[in-house]
Parts: sequence; C-alpha cells; structure tokens
Amino acid sequence: MGQSNVTMADHLKGHLLVEHGDIDDNVHPVESLRLVDALMKANKNFDMLLVPNMFHGESGDHALYLVRRRWDYFVQYLLGVTPPKNFEIKEDRPPGRSPRRRRGYLLDFTERNLPRRACTMKTFTLFVFLIAASLEAGAVDSGVAMTPPMGWNSWNHFACKVTADDVRSAADAIASNGMKDAGYTYVNIDDCWQGTRDEQGRIRPNQKFPDMKALVDYVHAKGLKIGIYSSPGPKTCAGYEGSYGHEEQDAQQYTGWGFDYLKYDWCSAEKIYQRSQMQEVYNKMHDALARTGRPIVFSLCQYGYARVWQWGVAVGGNLWRTTEDISDHFDRMSVIGFDQDGLESFAGPGHWNDPDMLEVGNGGMNHDEYTTHMSLWVLLAAPLLAGNDLSKMTPETLDLLTNKEVIAVDQDAKGVQGRRVAQEGPLEVWAKPLADGGIAVGLFNRGESGNPVTIRFKDIGIEGSAKVRNLWMHKDLGSFHGSYTAEMPRHGAVLIKIQ
Ligand code: GLA
Repeated sequence: MGQSNVTMADHLKGHLLVEHGDIDDNVHPVESLRLVDALMKANKNFDMLLVPNMFHGESGDHALYLVRRRWDYFVQYLLGVTPPKNFEIKEDRPPGRSPRRRRGYLLDFTERNLPRRACTMKTFTLFVFLIAASLEAGAVDSGVAMTPPMGWNSWNHFACKVTADDVRSAADAIASNGMKDAGYTYVNIDDCWQGTRDEQGRIRPNQKFPDMKALVDYVHAKGLKIGIYSSPGPKTCAGYEGSYGHEEQDAQQYTGWGFDYLKYDWCSAEKIYQRSQMQEVYNKMHDALARTGRPIVFSLCQYGYARVWQWGVAVGGNLWRTTEDISDHFDRMSVIGFDQDGLESFAGPGHWNDPDMLEVGNGGMNHDEYTTHMSLWVLLAAPLLAGNDLSKMTPETLDLLTNKEVIAVDQDAKGVQGRRVAQEGPLEVWAKPLADGGIAVGLFNRGESGNPVTIRFKDIGIEGSAKVRNLWMHKDLGSFHGSYTAEMPRHGAVLIKIQ
C-alpha cells in the first residue's frame, strides 16, 4: 500500500511514540502487543504508536498502532505507511540515537487550527481516521467480513458436478443442522455454473442452474447469504465463461440476482495480463461491484502470487488466498496451514488471509488430522468455508465443524491472526490473542508417532501460573505453573485457552 493521503481529523494533538527499528528486527505482532503493553506501562504519555513493520514489509515500512491509554482497548491497524502527509511530527529525538536502534522516543504530533479535546475523544477520532484511511485504500467499505467469513463452498466436494439442487441441499443442511447457529452463513457456488452470454453480452447460467434468481431467493429465505464465482480472464480455471471485458455487466448481473459474495479467480487472466497488472485487474472488479451499491464480500483468488497480502486490502479484497489449492490430504493441508506463519500482520477485521477452504468430512484424513485442520484454521483466523457434502455428514464431521468454543477463536472480535510461538521438529505451538485477554493456543504433533507437546507460558508472555481450558472438550483443566503438556497422537492437535 502506498503512502496514504488521508486527511487527519484536524483537531488532533498528542504524543506519538516511535519505536525505531527495521524489518530485519522481525518484530512479531504478538511480540509487538507485548511491546505495546510494556511501553504503555513504562510511559503513559502517548496516544499513538508507530512501530516497525513486521514481516513482508519493505524496509522502512511502519505499522501504525492506535492505543487507548489503558490497556483495555487496542486497535491494531496496519497501514503499511509512514505517517500521513499532514500528520506533523516535531522531532524530539535525543541526540545520538540511531534510527535503527529499537529504542522508543516521544514525538509531538500536532494538528493546527483546532482546540484540544479529551483523550478519549482523540482516540475515537483517531479510530475514525484509521477507518477512513482503509476506506480510502478500498478496504472494508461495506462493513462485510468483519470476522472471517463462514459458510460452505461447492468446489472441494462437488467440483464441476455441482447443481442448483446441491446448493439448495447445502442451504437446507446449514439452516437445520446447527451450522447456521454456529455462524455458517455463506452458501457459495464455485466454478462451473456459467453458460453462454446473450446477444447483449449478459452472462447466463448453464442448464444445471436453470433459475439463478430463484436459487438466490431460496438461500436468502433460509436466513443465509449466497456467493458466486468468476475469473478476470476470458475463461475460469475449469474452462467456463470468465468476466474479461464484461466486468461491469457481470457485477450488475451478480448483484441483480442478489449475490452477497464473489470469489474472483485469476485462472486464464494469466494469459491476458502481466502479473504486475493484478492490482488494477482486481481493482476493476472491485470498483464495478462498489458501483452496484450492494454490500458484497470480495474474495481474491490468485494463489498468493505477487505477495497479495500486501495489496489485497488496497484493491478492496475482504479475503485473499495465500496459497495454491488445498486437497484432502494431511500433507497438503498441513504444508498450507503451517506455512501461514509470518502473514498475520496483514489480517484483520474486513480483510483476511485465506489458506483455502476446509476439507473436513471429505474422507481423506482421519479424525486427528481433521482436528489439526480445524484447530489450525481457527488459530489463523481463516475463513471457514466447509467443503464437504453437508447433506451426508457423519455426526463426527458435524461436531468438528460446529464446536462453538473452537469457532469462537476464529471469530474473535480482536481479529488477530495467530502465529507459531515454539517449534521442536514436528511439534509446534501456535498462539492467538483473544479479545477477552485470554490466549488461544494450539499444540500440534505433525510427526508420525505419538509425542508430548508442551506450551511454555513464557513463550506467550505469561509468567507463573495460568488457567487452562480445553476448547474442543469444553473442559477446565485447572491451573498450571509455567507450562502445560499434552500427550498428542500422530498428526493430532489440542486447542486450549490460557488465561
Ligand atoms: C482454482 C481455485 C479453486 C477452485 C477452482 C475452480 O483452482 O483455486 O479453489 O475455485 O479453481 O476451477
């Protein structure tokens, strides 16, 4: 994202604390939360914090943090920008301090013309400013996907065989089997619904989808939302009609039918455009959708090319795939999931990294492996799009998909994507800070034999004792000193909450 040219609300005045450093310092979001906490305790006198960008930024990028003075409320908003142009900073740097040294110092930031307001007002205004900044960048402009989208997608199970009846069955199942209560909302048609265009160039569904409007109405009548799929290229990945040259028309058609979600899959756009044009290509569809006025989730699917996490938000993406396709095998799922470490600073309310849809219940993994899949996806604040046949599900699969304490980790209002905090060979520990001050922790055994896995509390910033709750089992395990260890089966996972 380039330099923001937002206008800062002009009655702001306060102190900005700059933590100098560089991308090389690898300041991690979870560590930087701790850093913010420590800085706030040590120095009560700032309203805003600028820290070095964490991962994947260019050298010199900064993350802008907004902090209320007490540690009761924290908003992290990664803008990836240096302070806004009209954000005047009076340098008050002690002499001899190198900008590359990780030592904080205070600067005054000043806006002319306006009276001082109370601190909370400033904070509020700053928050508005941050939202405005992201609006300007094209993100979160419809208030959708403030938590990772949940629902179902036809591809992983039905692929090109999908029919309107399959989609109806999925909606029936979600509305009646507890999935809707658990938060599953979007019923998404993937590739292979498209027919030909009419004389005016309007896209028509193929014979498997005889009446798209009726299907949309059916899903809506269940209190659910519905998604559709296209490509910026002339053909989709499965060779069906894409949106190339018809972006405006297609956006009108989708929203006219009443769709709430578009997955836009690069596919044959590779033959038409340079990769350097990706941003403008995605932006084109985003603008076309925005002009329809309908709130619509915009899902970028280009397999993580060109570090999409850096610019996905700027082209209006609410989620962007970070990888090539998942498959229903432990090796593939785990390579994708465990590789997400380092992308967490790019996720947040309205814009999420997408490690691809769920395979839970498709039959290629055992119960422990699907437990790993689900536990990891919720720690990643990943979109949860079930990819199985919901009309023929075992009770075990339904339990895996609908465990409320597990899903609460994914949907947590803080919107922080978790990250790896410890690793010993195939044994991994991941953590995700939660809005209530607790920390969700996943213990994973990727190895081929059973092994104990330990979380050392100091790895998540906790000294001494802490309470541990098993989220899959809804069970308080008691208070533990310094660490907690669980015996783990091959390819297994335990998801706990530590407080
Ligand atoms: C690509 C996407 C998949 C699916 C197929 C459909 O491979 O990554 O998720 O949408 O196209 O053809």
